[in-house]
Amino acid sequence: MAAGPSLEARIAETVRQLGDARAVPNRRWLSGLLGVPPAKVEPWLAEIPSLVSLARSLRKTHLAGGRRFYAQFRAPYELYALARATRPDHIVETGVSSGVSSVHFLAALRRNRRGTLHSVDLPQVQASAELGPRESEVSVPPGRSSGWAIPPLYRKGWDLHLGRSEEVLPTVVRSLPSVGIFLHDSRHTPAHLTFELETIRPKLRPGSIVLADNTQWTGDAFPRFARSLRTRVWRRGHSDLVGLRVPESI
Ligand SMILES: C[S@@+](CC[C@H](N)C(=O)[O-])C[C@H]1O[C@@H](n2cnc3c(N)ncnc32)[C@H](O)[C@@H]1O
Repeated sequence: MAAGPSLEARIAETVRQLGDARAVPNRRWLSGLLGVPPAKVEPWLAEIPSLVSLARSLRKTHLAGGRRFYAQFRAPYELYALARATRPDHIVETGVSSGVSSVHFLAALRRNRRGTLHSVDLPQVQASAELGPRESEVSVPPGRSSGWAIPPLYRKGWDLHLGRSEEVLPTVVRSLPSVGIFLHDSRHTPAHLTFELETIRPKLRPGSIVLADNTQWTGDAFPRFARSLRTRVWRRGHSDLVGLRVPESI
């Protein structure tokens, strides 16, 4: 009997359905963040092909919403794998847009059968039915809200807060006993990233994962935070998506 397609081919097909080649998972980044040898991340990566219908649905909804490009977040499958590997009780993210990062966290928590995603987003609303030349693809089409591409199946239990992170995040975080994973993908300024990192700091535990996208705009804020925790920064390839793992001796 002929062997079926390899795992690599099935992951590539899932990425193709999502519509952005950047989403091929980076094993080195994942194993570095988790502090395990690359072979240990394979079981989580082996689950990625099961997300192919989600990928197809996201692409279809994005295209129907006038978005040529699938996402504002390049590493959805690593988010899925991190949440599967660490089985957090609480994930916090800022910056939802159409919901690509959110839905990959939600898919992992659903499979874990435990944990809650708390998301904070101040949606920018697109002015008219067509995305204007000066409008950002992160804006939300008229009549829709943050997470507009997330299929209903994944929304159960999702704790979404609409508002400025500056106002909403402290209240959300105060109500939680711990933060297992934090993703910053909202307002990319050094001061704002520092504000978010300092807000979550008291709820981090050994092994918590902290991620920040678009750090080309946030200066020294993330490396400084890593230094204060005496841990290293893991960069995803040559991109400005970075992360760290909170050490045992926090
Ligand atoms: C890059 S997009 C997020 C992309 C998302 N993580 C994804 O996977 O598609 C940034 C989002 O942050 C929102 N945002 C910008 N400034 C914010 C703030 N101060 N507080 C909360 N959300 C903010 C934007 O409106 C937008 O929805």
